[in-house]
Amino acid sequence: MSKVISVVSGKGGTGKTLFASNMGALLAMGGNSVVLIDMDLGLRNLDIYLGLENNVVYNVMDVVSGMCRIKQALVRDKRFKSLYLMSAAPPRDERDITPLHIKVLCERLKSEFDYIIIDGSAGVGENMDLAVAAADTVVVITEPEAASIRDADVVDRELEKMGIKDKCCVVNKVDPELMALGVVPSLSDISHSLRLRIAGLIQYDSNIYIATNSGVPIVLKVGTYIEKNFSRIVKRIIENE
Ligand SMILES: Nc1ncnc2c1ncn2[C@@H]1O[C@H](COP(=O)(O)OP(=O)(O)OP(=O)(O)O)[C@@H](O)[C@H]1O
Ligand SMILES: [Mg+2]
Repeated sequence: MSKVISVVSGKGGTGKTLFASNMGALLAMGGNSVVLIDMDLGLRNLDIYLGLENNVVYNVMDVVSGMCRIKQALVRDKRFKSLYLMSAAPPRDERDITPLHIKVLCERLKSEFDYIIIDGSAGVGENMDLAVAAADTVVVITEPEAASIRDADVVDRELEKMGIKDKCCVVNKVDPELMALGVVPSLSDISHSLRLRIAGLIQYDSNIYIATNSGVPIVLKVGTYIEKNFSRIVKRIIENE
C-alpha cells in the first residue's frame, strides 16, 4: 500500500531536505516508485539537493491551481528507475493552497507511486498543516541542541493534537566528541525531553554538506557508513520499529 511520509522540524536548517532527498533516493534504489514533493513554499531547496534545478518547469502550485496536469509537474531523476520531484513554487507565488488540495493531490499520486515524501518547512502553523495534511507517517528532524529539541517537542504536540500517531524523530548533525564532552544534550537527555520515538542518529559530516551542494544524494555512495546508517533509519521508519 502506498504511503505518504512528511518530513518536518521545529527549528530551521536541521536537515529536512537532506533527509527527504536521501530517503527518496534509498527507497527508489530499493525498487520503489517514489515522488518527492517540495512543500517548503517560497523557500524551496529540494530541486538543488537533487541537482534538478534546471529541469523544473511546473510546480505544485501549478498543479493545484489547475494550470498543468500532475504528470507535467513531475521531473524525473534519471539516476534512478523511478524517482520524481514535484518542486515548490518560487517566492511570491500567492496562489491559494489548502490542506485539502494536498490530500487530493496525494490521493491521486498514490495510484502511481509507492511512496510520496513531502519536504516541509520549519515551524508550526499553516505551512506545517499543509506538509502533514496527507501524512501516514511524520518524521521530525532535530539537532542535539536544546532549542532544536524544545521546538521538536512543540511540533510533536501539534501533531498529537492533529491525531497523527505514526511519528518519530531523527537526530541529525550529531558530533560524538561534543556529546562525549557533555557540552551538548546526550542521547538520553534527548529521549527524556521528547516523547517522540527516535528512529536514528546522523553524524555531522562535511561530506553530507558537500553532497547537498553538488546535487548528489549521499546514499548513492553505496557501502559508506553514511549510506548504511541512512538505510537502517529508513527501514526503521518504514517498518515502524
Ligand atoms: N549531517 C550533516 N552533516 C553536515 N551537514 C549537514 C548535515 N545535515 C544537513 N547538513 C547541512 O545543513 C544545511 C541545512 O540542511 P537542510 O537544508 O537539509 O535543512 P532543512 O531543515 O531542510 O532547512 P530549512 O529549514 O531551511 O528547510 C545544508 O547545508 C546541509 O548540507
Ligand atoms: Mg529544507
